[in-house]
Amino acid sequence: LKVVTSSAQMQKLAGAARLRGKTIAFVPTMGYLHAGHARLLKVGRRLGDVLVLSIFVNPMQFGPKEDLSRYPRDFRRDSKIARAEGTDIIFKPGEMYPPGFQTHIEVEKVTTGLCGEFRPGHFTGVTTIVAKLFNVVKPHFAVFGTKDLQQLVSIKRMVRDLDMDVKIIPVLTVREADGLAMSSRNAYLSPDERTKAVALPNALKAAKALARSGVKSAGALKSAALKALAKEPAFKIQYLEVVDPDTLEPVKVAGKGSVMAVAAYLGKTRLIDNLVLA
Ligand code: PAF
Repeated sequence: LKVVTSSAQMQKLAGAARLRGKTIAFVPTMGYLHAGHARLLKVGRRLGDVLVLSIFVNPMQFGPKEDLSRYPRDFRRDSKIARAEGTDIIFKPGEMYPPGFQTHIEVEKVTTGLCGEFRPGHFTGVTTIVAKLFNVVKPHFAVFGTKDLQQLVSIKRMVRDLDMDVKIIPVLTVREADGLAMSSRNAYLSPDERTKAVALPNALKAAKALARSGVKSAGALKSAALKALAKEPAFKIQYLEVVDPDTLEPVKVAGKGSVMAVAAYLGKTRLIDNLVLA
């Protein structure tokens, strides 16, 4: 397991691997790895000859009032997990933005709703850093979790729109035993909040059960989820929507692939989750 901290060095290694005919699989992260990231690495390990994990807490995707300064970090633990999953290279740059930086990648429509409404600039920060990381790591495959659905959709859109020569591989959300979606931000939850957090996936499950029983009206499905979530009054909901999985536009009737997506605050912690309904 090699740790590379400079973009130039990483580009050299990636270029050399490609010249040797090797395929590169890439898992970009902000560190503080959990079982969800381990699953991404497992998928990457099967796809590429060379498996690269990046760890960079990207300031550009945090709003001024968000959690950049307290974002959890533990490089020792991260490298243990990376090694256990057969990672070849950890790319851990100290800095990614040269002085005078002024170039951004903005994906338009799919970033406006859902989280985009509450986190202005967030997705531009994500697509800009992911494009930069692709230029440095030169992956054939890049693996992303579906928990961050809007991120995944935005990155897929960027890759298609800009003819980036990389295949985006989505991987299903990994959940704790009680159903809570794995997230580095779960570390912020107090024990009491952690117990309450399960109401979020339970609300999505209630809607899914209803959809499976034949109810397809998005309004009825949302009501069911909101009612389930209301059992835990500590939640402050930002949005709960039934959307098309490719455009992320709200639908009135849940069809094949429709996704219920939710964002809510539990105390100071913002949690997101989503579930395919039908
Ligand atoms: O999902 C994440 O951890 C980040 O948004 C990503 C894709 C690594 C970009 O900083």
